[in-house]
Amino acid sequence: MNSETESSSSDITPSFGGLRVVAFESRMAAEVATMIRRRGGVAIIAPAMREVPLENNHAALDFAERLLGGEFEVVVFMTGVGTRALFAAMETRHQRPALVTALAAITTVARGPKPIRAMRDLGIEPSIVVPEPNTWRELLSALAAKVELKGKRVAVQEYGVSNHELTAGLEARGARVTIVPVYRWTLPADRRPLRAALNAIAAGAADVAIFTSSNQVTNVIQLAEAEGIGDSVKRGFARMAVGSIGPVCSEQIRAYGLGVDFEPEHSKLGHLIKEAAALATLILIAKRADAGRIEAVESPSPRRAASSNAPRSLLTDHPMMKACRREATPYTPVWLMRQAGRYMPEYRRVREQHEFLEMCKRPELSAEVTVTAVERLKVDAAIIFADILLPLIPMEVGLHFEKGDGPVIDRPVRTEADLERIPAVDVAALGFVGDAIKLVHRALAATTPLIGFAGAPFTLASYLIEGGSSRQYQATKTFMYTQPETWHRLMELLARVTADYLKMQIAAGADIVQIFDSWVGSLGPDDYRRFVLPHTASVIAAIPADVPVIHFGTVTGNLLELMREAGGDVIGLDWRVNLAEAWARLNYSVAVQGNLDPIALFADIPEIRARARAILDQADGRPGHIFNLGHGILPETPAEHVIALVDAVHEMSAR
Ligand code: CP3
Repeated sequence: MNSETESSSSDITPSFGGLRVVAFESRMAAEVATMIRRRGGVAIIAPAMREVPLENNHAALDFAERLLGGEFEVVVFMTGVGTRALFAAMETRHQRPALVTALAAITTVARGPKPIRAMRDLGIEPSIVVPEPNTWRELLSALAAKVELKGKRVAVQEYGVSNHELTAGLEARGARVTIVPVYRWTLPADRRPLRAALNAIAAGAADVAIFTSSNQVTNVIQLAEAEGIGDSVKRGFARMAVGSIGPVCSEQIRAYGLGVDFEPEHSKLGHLIKEAAALATLILIAKRADAGRIEAVESPSPRRAASSNAPRSLLTDHPMMKACRREATPYTPVWLMRQAGRYMPEYRRVREQHEFLEMCKRPELSAEVTVTAVERLKVDAAIIFADILLPLIPMEVGLHFEKGDGPVIDRPVRTEADLERIPAVDVAALGFVGDAIKLVHRALAATTPLIGFAGAPFTLASYLIEGGSSRQYQATKTFMYTQPETWHRLMELLARVTADYLKMQIAAGADIVQIFDSWVGSLGPDDYRRFVLPHTASVIAAIPADVPVIHFGTVTGNLLELMREAGGDVIGLDWRVNLAEAWARLNYSVAVQGNLDPIALFADIPEIRARARAILDQADGRPGHIFNLGHGILPETPAEHVIALVDAVHEMSAR
């Protein structure tokens, strides 16, 4: 086994759980079959190509003559196998050291890790190494950055299909391009396995497709069309989870009008199969539910339309949903703010590979960490992995997250002119959150409600105005006190965007929404009433009545009645108030959520249990209490303490 397959052999979670996985790989067919089976998949191995070294490779020999004659200034090596094959052909006539010396005198480009390795094995150090994801685009810009291409003679080693974009891009910069084809590819001699796989795909009898080279894509589609089943194979792929080894392969898949559902972080077989196992079930649930919904829209059958609403109605009796309505529950439901976060090793593993905003933008990653948290903690609600600051992305204020410093906004909003510069926001730009919700909602549909969320206008405004996190909210309050009209216009804008954003999340499948007004406790009650309440109220009023709203803030002991006035079925409490007293102040007219101090989770488990007990005692078994922390879990919290808390709440509240 080589290094590409080793990574998966020591670790067999996640699992395919019996899904039927079609792989088109030829050279590594046996290894791929083993990897799929070890992860609990049914392997359908359908080699889609055969590599044929060109007999009497005239192009390679001609290239060698010209290279030795000093006719090229640049040589591009596209693939590892091709580089080695080119040398094998050239070395039938020439000595390797002469070829290597000729290459050392000019610019050599390695498109990716495989040609780099092949070149080094042959004794050539590439002068330019193309950065990831190693497509023709990166190749062209890396080369153009180092070499003035005008008038240069460039040879491109090619393997299989020609890359017209690369050739065109080089020529557009004035280079003269010579293609050196080394290998060609064809259909395998024995096409029976590929035909059988295509029939299975057309018949809907396969779940996952794994493409490991762009040439496979062409062969698969061409054979399907030759067999007269092109359209049904394409429809079959649309219902499957389709994985691609990397961007070049994905481009080819998309060129045939097919979708790509995932690409591994590293373009390696082991990673691809592992990600396929991790994501396939979620992707399939989402795709098939979407397909069902599309049919329901197209068909006037009322029975279908009703059943498409079934998942939500199944959850109406979930303890979490009942508690939002202040109905009696068999135990106190519990979930925890920031339950998917850095305290959790599973989260850190994903986070090591991806920037935080990238995680939010990739539905499959966001869905994965959301669902993992629910499964690990056995909590009674999922909260979609996202961030309250995401709506600032379409506002084009330069949002980014700096290591250690949290969010930074490059162009804060401090004046009327700054406000005017914010473009009209279409929440469709945040469609990735909706896509993630669809994945999670369907993965958890009948078991656990899913909370969508957004920042309240005040808390969002504080980030926009301060340009990041703040202690005193000096700029925010100064804005409010000195430019009250502009303040209200900003808040109206934020309220509109927030309402649209929450409605989009609900349409995607969020069962509950939470509004985070995390920093509103910095205001006195008069300012809250005048500058905040009307705007938060307008957001909450926009939410459909059958979707519970949780209205959360911290340091809000002085604002609870006003927050209730702004709206919400559930009011969030932090640990600075006594839950019994706060709820009584609200006349038990709303449900409450809270309120363990997150730092209590650093105490030992008996102490955590005692504190959970005290909060349950304050709630006194009254319907309408959702157990939570008073604010989010801190990154350093021991994960086992979090699990112990959830267990303790379930156990101690059982009625
Ligand atoms: O599990 C969940 O609760 C869902 C995910 C969630 C995140 N942010 C993920 C996140 C939720 C609900 C939020 C809300 C959020 N984001 C709030 C309101 C809640 C609160 O804490 O008061 C606020 C103020 C933000 C803004 C924000 N996002 C800050 C200030 C930071 C940096 C501080 C930090 O904890 O690192 C973030 C980043 C952020 N949002 C992380 C996570 C998991 C950490 C990102 C990382 O892994 O580096």
